[in-house]
Amino acid sequence: MTDWSRGYVAGNTYGIAWQAAQTPAHLAMVCAMAGIAWQPRERMHVADLGCGRGYTVNTLAAANPDWTVLGLDHSPAHVAEGMQTAARAGLGNALFVEADLATMSDAELDRIPPLDVAMLHGVWSWVSDEVRAGILRLLSRRLKPGGIAYFGYNALPASSGDLALQRLLRHLAGPVDSQPGQAAAAATTAMTRLRAMAGSFALRDTPMLRRLLAEPPVLEPAFVAHEFLTSHWRPVFHADLCESVGAAKLEFVGSCNLFEALPGLVCDAEQLGVMGHLPEGTPREFLKDLCLPRSFRADLFIRGARRTNPAAAMDALLLAACAPLPEEAPILTTGTGRASLPQPAWEAVAACLAEGPQPLGRLCSLVPGDTLHPAEVLALLVGTDLVLPVFRPSVRAAAATRFNLAAAAIHAPGGEGSGHFALASPVAAGGLPATALDLALVAALLEGADPEDPQALAERLQPELNDEGLARAADIIAGRWAERIPIWRLFGVI
Ligand SMILES: C[S@@+](CC[C@H](N)C(=O)[O-])C[C@H]1O[C@@H](n2cnc3c(N)ncnc32)[C@H](O)[C@@H]1O
Repeated sequence: MTDWSRGYVAGNTYGIAWQAAQTPAHLAMVCAMAGIAWQPRERMHVADLGCGRGYTVNTLAAANPDWTVLGLDHSPAHVAEGMQTAARAGLGNALFVEADLATMSDAELDRIPPLDVAMLHGVWSWVSDEVRAGILRLLSRRLKPGGIAYFGYNALPASSGDLALQRLLRHLAGPVDSQPGQAAAAATTAMTRLRAMAGSFALRDTPMLRRLLAEPPVLEPAFVAHEFLTSHWRPVFHADLCESVGAAKLEFVGSCNLFEALPGLVCDAEQLGVMGHLPEGTPREFLKDLCLPRSFRADLFIRGARRTNPAAAMDALLLAACAPLPEEAPILTTGTGRASLPQPAWEAVAACLAEGPQPLGRLCSLVPGDTLHPAEVLALLVGTDLVLPVFRPSVRAAAATRFNLAAAAIHAPGGEGSGHFALASPVAAGGLPATALDLALVAALLEGADPEDPQALAERLQPELNDEGLARAADIIAGRWAERIPIWRLFGVI
C-alpha cells in the first residue's frame, strides 16, 4: 500500500453501482415515515464523501442544475474520472475534490459549502479510525443545522460471518500495493486459492462465501479487492455508529430500507414479543439486526431534528411508477418474510399509478378499510422497485440529456458495459435505475433514432452480428423500448 491510501485499495478503481436510496427524494421518504420534517429544496449543497468514480455525483448534478454536488475522494483516478465525465456533460455544478478525509485542515474544510445533504456509501466500515475521525470533523463543521447524512456500511451481527473470511483472503492475496491492476490480480490469486482450500476448513457459510466460490465466477476481482483487501475493514454495530456520529450531533432518523421501520415486516410474533420489552431506539434496531440476514445497512441521520406529523408527511409524498406494473400484486421479500397488497387493492393502486404521479394519500385511499397502514403501502411500493418519489413533475433538463448521452458513450459502447447505472431524471431529482443497454437505447432516442426501427439500431450498435444475431438484438431492443419509453417520458429522460 502507498502512504496516501491509508490501507485502502488504491491500484484499482471501484465499480459503478447506483444506489436509489442515496437520492435526497428517497431520504425525504425515510424522514416522512419517522415524522421528521425534512424535504429536498430546489437549491441545495450535497456532498458524496468517498465518492468513487463520481457516477452518483454527476447523476445528481445533471438532474438538479440548481444544486451544487461535491464529490470528494482521495483516489486521483476516481476524481479524474468524475471530473472528466462532468466536463464532457458540461456539468458546472458537479465539483470534485481530491482529498484525504483523515487530514483535511480547517481551511480546506471551510472551502466546502454548508451542506444540506452528506452521503457516505461504503466508506465508514472500510476506513481507519483516523479517517472516521476526519469524517466526523467534516460533518461537525460543514453539515448545516437541519442537514441530513446518509451512511451505508457493513453492519454487525450479520457481517460477523465474513470477518474470518476477510482475514483469510488478505493472507491468501499476499501484499497489496498501488501498482495499476495489482490489487485485482491479488484478489484473483486469493479467490483461486480460496476455491482450492474451501472444503478443507470450517469456513462460515455466508452469502459472500457462496458468491466468492460461485462457478462460473460472479464477482469481479476489482470488487473483491475493494471489499476485502483493505487493511481496516471492520463492520460495526448500528448502536456504535450512532454513538460515533453523535459526536457530530447527528441523530438517527431511520433505515433507508423503508420496510425496516415496520417491525411487523421484519420480526415474527415471538420476536415482536421480545421487542416489546425493549426500549425504543438502538435496542430495538439491534433486535431487527439480529433477525435480518442482511450484512449492509443504510442509515439516515439528521443534525437537529424537527418533528412533524408522519401521517400528513407521508400522505403528501408524490410517487410515480418507474417499472411496468405487474397484474399480480407484487411481493416484497424482506429477508425474513414476505408481504403484499391484497389483489383488489393492488389493481386499484396500479390503475391509479398508470394515470401518472400520485400522492401516497390518494393511493392509500384505494386500499380498503384499515388493512394496511400508509407506511406499509409505501414500503411495499418502494421496496418492490415499482415506484420512485417524484420531486418536480413533468420537466426536462438539458443537463440531464447531456449527462445521459455522455454516460452512454462512456459506459455502454455497443449497448454493453458492466455496472448498475442510472439515467439522470429531473423529475426524480436523481437517477432512474438503468442497464448499459438502457443507456444506449436512451442515447439513440435522444440522437433521433426511430423507435419503429429497432433493426437499424441493432445494426449500428452491433455491426459484427450475423443476420440471426441482428434479428435477436432487434427483438430485445423493440421489447425494451416498448416497456421503457413511457417510463423515460414520465421521468423527463426523453
Ligand atoms: C467502497 S468505495 C465506495 C465508493 C462510492 N461511495 C460508491 O458507493 O460507489 C470507498 C471509497 O472511499 C474512498 N476513500 C477511502 N479512504 C479515503 C480517504 N481517507 N479519504 C477520501 N476517500 C477515501 C475510496 O477511494 C473509494 O472511492
